[in-house]
Formats: sequence, structure tokens, C-alpha cells
Amino acid sequence: AIVEKGEYRHFMAKEIHQQPEVVGRALTGYIDAVEGRTVPIEDEIDFAAIDRLLISACGTAYYAGLVAKYWFETYARLPVETDIASELRYRDVVYPEKGAALFISQSGETADTLAALREAKAKGCHIGGVVNVPESTIAREADCLYPIQAGPEIGVASTKAFTCQLASLASIVVRAGVARGVIAPDEEVRLCRVLLEAPRQLAAILTQEASIAAVADHVAGARDVLYLGRGTSYPIALEGALKLKEISYIHAEGYAAGELKHGPIALIDERVPVIVIAPEDRHFEKTLSNMQEVLARGGRCILLSTAAGVARAQEGGDLTAAITLPAIDPLIAPILYAVPIQLMAYHAAVIKGTDVDQPRNLAKSVTVE
Ligand code: G6P
Repeated sequence: AIVEKGEYRHFMAKEIHQQPEVVGRALTGYIDAVEGRTVPIEDEIDFAAIDRLLISACGTAYYAGLVAKYWFETYARLPVETDIASELRYRDVVYPEKGAALFISQSGETADTLAALREAKAKGCHIGGVVNVPESTIAREADCLYPIQAGPEIGVASTKAFTCQLASLASIVVRAGVARGVIAPDEEVRLCRVLLEAPRQLAAILTQEASIAAVADHVAGARDVLYLGRGTSYPIALEGALKLKEISYIHAEGYAAGELKHGPIALIDERVPVIVIAPEDRHFEKTLSNMQEVLARGGRCILLSTAAGVARAQEGGDLTAAITLPAIDPLIAPILYAVPIQLMAYHAAVIKGTDVDQPRNLAKSVTVE
């Protein structure tokens, strides 16, 4: 079937707006909504039997894997090693005896990810493929297909595949936590309910598009932009910076908030917008104090947090802008905070007049090394 833009100016805009629906669909693959429990997946990884998990991917899919690392540690007490596939395939990886690995890929055809998968498989790992295109090579070569069901993604910059990867990975994590005896039965039900809330919350965030577009105005004129986050917001900062540079060609860097003083703070002046991703989780106060270090040096901060978080931050200095998000369980924060980040990049690119769906030099799927 031919995929059309419909009422949207770009595929990217359409795909951003499909997220409530496709994230909901992704979750149906993992969660029984009536029972509020995770469901078995064919040939799934036996999380109770492993003592370490390897996660690898490229680009945006890699950042989804980085979020999953934090989740697996918190909710399943499972040690996770992450690496980008182009490094993993050439490292002298020490594979565990009974290992398992997750490879994440929208297309299922990325050359480095496929090569890394084949290597891990040859070393005896049980391979899970978190893939969008079910008939792809990675989906076929994995021992277990974890589908994300995002539907065709046409825009080169990945959006809905990212949030569907996150929703799928979060569900896999909950199942792993149950299997490993870390998540009790009633906690499984609670976390499943939290995940099933994500589509409605995503829809609520999308209604704020006009105000997020106004914030993008502060970004579109910049030469450099910094994104800061801590915990699961750190990979969202990396993804925010990637999204912005991919489609607006503005130089952007994502940093762990605590690393600010180890380098990037030297760049701070009134011309460098600093986008701070700070949901009200256990890292909030720490990230806030990093933001205050930026404000104290005359930097311009754009804060993404809850209404209470934004109010609290405003006590400490003048924000250039704020994007207010719903107060939610920290589990789904990365899924929700991904969206304003996408919309900011999208609107900055529209303001600059770049080719949003087909940015220069980039390919949707990198099938050669
Ligand atoms: C390219 C695309 C990115 C994508 C990456 C990995 O760089 O432009 O959007 O994240 O490849 O692709 P995959 O299909 O393996 O997720």
C-alpha cells in the first residue's frame, strides 16, 4: 500500500502524531489489557536464566537501548552492557556462557547491527530482535522477534519507531522483572497500567504543539544547542540532539547533566540554548542544580518538566521557556518526553526551511558499512 502524508505537510509530522495510536498498538503485543499482565512472546529470552544482557543498535534505536539499560537495572536487577553496533562488531567482546542479546532496529536491515547480531549468535547468545519490519533480515535471523508494530516509517528521522521501541522494551523489562522475582504480581499489574496510560498522555502532549513550536523559535536561530538529562533522561537528551542536527543542521550535543562541568559549561553564553529534560523523578533536584549553574553563567534554559517542576525551577532563576508535561510514573517519562523533543526539532527545521523528510546526506536505512 502507498503511504500518504494526508493532512500533514511532512511524513515526520504525520508520524509524530501517530504515536498515541502506534504506541498503543505496540503495547497490545506485550500486555493483556484485561488482566494487566505481560504475555509470553514466542521463543522469548529466559530472563531468569541469564546473568547479563547485551544490547546493541545504531542511531536512534541505540538510544532506545540505552534507556532500556536503566530500566533493566532498576526493574529487573539485570546487568546490561550496551554498545553501538559498529563498535560491538569489532570489539573483542567477552561473551557470557549462556548469554542473551537484544538488537534493536527499525528497518531490520542496518548492516552494522546485522553483523553484530551474527557475531553474537555465532558466540552462542540467544538473540532477541526488537524490530519494526517483521520480514526484515534482523527479524528473521533473531531467535525471537519482539515486534514494535509502528507501521511504515517514511521520514528519515525516526520518531514513532523510537517511542514504539521504548514501549516494547519497557514491557519486556516488566516481564523480565517478573521472571527474575524482582517485580511482585501486584506491581506487575500496576506497571502494566502505567504503560497502558502512555497513549492517552502522548495525545495530551500533542495538543500542546503550538506552544512547543513557539519554543522551537528560540532554537532555530542558534548555532549550537545543548541537551541535558540524567538517568533515563540522558538518552533522551542524546536523542534530542540527534533529532535536531539530523533535520535542522544545527549543531547539538546531548550530555549527562552531571558532565556539564567537565567541558560543555565552557560553551555557555546567551547564544547557546540549553534544553533541560527533567521529569519529577529521583534525579530532579540534581538536574535542577545543573540548570542553575547554566543560569548563573548567563545561559538560556528551556526546561521540560511537570508544572510543579517548572514552578520550582522558576524560583531559582529566569527560564527562557518551559514545556509543561503531565505528572506521570517515571517508567513512562522517556516515552513521553521524547515527543516535545521531536516537535522542537521538527519546528526548528520547518522554520529553517530544510528538507525535513529527506535531510541531506542521510539515509533511512544504512545497509552498507
Ligand atoms: C539511520 C536512520 C536512523 C536510524 C538508524 C538505525 O541512521 O536515519 O533514523 O535510527 O539508521 O536504523 P535502524 O533501521 O537499524 O533502526
